[in-house]
Amino acid sequence: MKDVLTAPFMVEMIRTATNMYAHGWDERNGGNISLMLEENEVREYLDPEKALRTIPTGFAAPELEGKYFLVTGTGKYFKNVQYAPEVNLGIVRLKDRGQQADLLWGYADGGQFTSEFPAHMMSHAARLKVNPENRVVMHCHPANLLAMTYVHDLDEKQFTRTLWQMCTECIVVFPEGVNVLPWMLCGTNEIGEATAEKMKTARLVVWSQHGIYGAGKDLDETFGLIETAEKAAEIYMKIAHLPRVNTITDDQMHLLEKRFGVKAREGWLD
Ligand code: 13P
Ligand code: ZN
Repeated sequence: MKDVLTAPFMVEMIRTATNMYAHGWDERNGGNISLMLEENEVREYLDPEKALRTIPTGFAAPELEGKYFLVTGTGKYFKNVQYAPEVNLGIVRLKDRGQQADLLWGYADGGQFTSEFPAHMMSHAARLKVNPENRVVMHCHPANLLAMTYVHDLDEKQFTRTLWQMCTECIVVFPEGVNVLPWMLCGTNEIGEATAEKMKTARLVVWSQHGIYGAGKDLDETFGLIETAEKAAEIYMKIAHLPRVNTITDDQMHLLEKRFGVKAREGWLD
């Protein structure tokens, strides 16, 4: 068996967590990532029949039974992932209709997966129905998106339109827009279900006064989605208190749709 620390998925996960920390999106233990793995890639490094222990999930996700995930640990600092991956990350396989997870590697100090495991797994299930290629769910606390939820209308059409207006490429990167949840208690099945519901129509879901969820086919795409939305929110926070003299008009957005072959969320442009 090869050393799992050399696996491309592991190297990419560690780089991504490190980069997210460097962007200031993951203070302390803030944020979490889950990456779905293929059985054949796991088998190169681990024996799936050798579970270290079994962890109850507290919810059911029958569509994910038998699926493998590399997931950040609860209470673990993104800052430390690169120095001690085996303590801060774990590889699990769901069983019993998703109600339990066999730990195959990691959480070496006796820890377990993120407290946001329900939101991650329910979002994976929702996104896989929209796009069978989806592999990543990522949560973090980027300052400008968070700040925006204190001063901007939380209506998702209005919130999205503001983001689209802040950088020309926003509508190209997330034409479906962002969905927005009101403040809810984190780490619960309820916020997991609400997030998954929102994931049916967009890959970005803002958690008001908390952070953002992104989903995508790989770590790069998902990171890029959050990065683009956060850049737009940063520009908004720089200009929100100033008179708006110019903007990107809806006519210009339609030109972008044509040029880049994307379609904005139905009814969200005039
Ligand atoms: P965990 O440490 O359990 O991953 O929680 C961090 C977080 O961001 C909660 O929303
Ligand atoms: Zn959080």
